[in-house]
Amino acid sequence: MEANIKGILAKRWEVGAEHYAKGIKNKGINQYDEWLELIQDLVPNEPKLHVLDVGTGPGIMALLFSKLGHKTTGLDLSESMLNIARENAQTSNIDCEFIQGDAEDLSFEDESFDLVVNRLNLWTLPNPGRGVYHWARVLKPQGKLYIIANDYETPIPEDPAARENDEIFTKEYYESFASLPFRHATAAQIKALLEAAGLVNVDVTPIHNIENKKRDVPFCIITGEKN
Ligand SMILES: C[S@@+](CC[C@H](N)C(=O)[O-])C[C@H]1O[C@@H](n2cnc3c(N)ncnc32)[C@H](O)[C@@H]1O
Repeated sequence: MEANIKGILAKRWEVGAEHYAKGIKNKGINQYDEWLELIQDLVPNEPKLHVLDVGTGPGIMALLFSKLGHKTTGLDLSESMLNIARENAQTSNIDCEFIQGDAEDLSFEDESFDLVVNRLNLWTLPNPGRGVYHWARVLKPQGKLYIIANDYETPIPEDPAARENDEIFTKEYYESFASLPFRHATAAQIKALLEAAGLVNVDVTPIHNIENKKRDVPFCIITGEKN
């Protein structure tokens, strides 16, 4: 059942990759200067870090970390997303590795990375706790996890029937979506997940200054550190 749900969700990202990546394909990485500034506020420029961007999609965060000189790997389940990420790296002339893998079952050795970043991927996982366990596992001691998410403090109504004939958002997709425990998580729920994975100094910071398509659901960043 669980593998089936993951398969249905994976299909949504394969079919929807071009649609999701339209913005970055048309306008390139330079339109993400606000995100670049956010990273620069959080991460000192030196020393250079070994960074993993989990659920990288078209590679936005991975490319921004690479642009700042950090050695970065972007990982995604969807080969279509990864192909777009590789094209984006090429057209931006940025050196960045992109590999296929499951965010909930990373094959990297323990303590491989200084920083794991995850933007808008946690909600897509059938087992977010398993994902966070793996992201903490691959962090070096004192390594940091940054999760960028929407903070669904105000619950939003769901209307699966509305778009059930859509090629990407099929009825089957909506049924699987409804079983995702963190599809509408609050920042407090995400914070608790990081703490349950043994991370310390877990903090939530709202992101006010970056434009968000979901105006009523603000972005936030949840940071945690490995002991
Ligand atoms: C909403 S997009 C976010 C993409 C990117 N992080 C960004 O901020 O633009 C979610 C991404 O998670 C990927 N994804 C979904 N389930 C995954 C899994 N189990 N393992 C790795 N990637 C996954 C999808 O293929 C998609 O690229």
